[in-house]
Amino acid sequence: MRIAAVGDLHCRADTRPALAAALSGVDDQAECLLLAGDLTDHGTAEEASWLAEELARLKLPKVAVFGNHDYEAGQEQVVRQKLEAAGVKVLDGEPYALGEELGIAGVKGFGGGFEHAQLQRFGEGVIKQFVDACIAEELKLENALFQLRTRARVALLHYAPCRATVEGEPLEIYPFLGATRLSSPLDQLRPALAFHGHAHRGILRGATRGGVTVYNVALPVLRRLEKPVGFFSVDV
Ligand SMILES: [Fe+2]
Ligand SMILES: [Fe+2]
Repeated sequence: MRIAAVGDLHCRADTRPALAAALSGVDDQAECLLLAGDLTDHGTAEEASWLAEELARLKLPKVAVFGNHDYEAGQEQVVRQKLEAAGVKVLDGEPYALGEELGIAGVKGFGGGFEHAQLQRFGEGVIKQFVDACIAEELKLENALFQLRTRARVALLHYAPCRATVEGEPLEIYPFLGATRLSSPLDQLRPALAFHGHAHRGILRGATRGGVTVYNVALPVLRRLEKPVGFFSVDV
């Protein structure tokens, strides 16, 4: 099955034409489209309506997770309704199967940092809340992957589950780009692939410590490839 994936469309008035161009042809080149968050730029109803109009033109199944930008206006429920009305399944930890072939475990994820420098649940209450937010995403991902019984499974996140694909970003912001604890469900339950966005200056391909292949499909990353593309496609 051929999957197309892209994140960080950041739909707003001035980016709409370019993102429509980026997605052109996806219907002919893939059997489903995964959207890795930051669908809108400020999470407004207006931006969601514009994106919904563009996505409604595409006939293939469309599955998305939210990114941090989709929460900015506090209208994420309206954003979700508008996208779902356009035929986009928005996931927040529920397992989702496209027939018997492909299962998608989708969560936003969260930050916390990587490997030995990952933020630990210690000290002030607000630090514990921050770490708990990431642990909650980790558990949702684990639960979704555990429940899927399809021939192939993939994970879809906004935040990065490994350090490898954020290489190129300033070191100072690594803790806000993702967290190694998001990779634990991947290494235990072994989906075929994981996709994320969020790290606009990162690189396309990496892997978790346990060897699960991870693709950073943020649109700015795809546009910097040797042969720039508007969406990444891969067979599972
Ligand atoms: Fe983004
Ligand atoms: Fe983001």
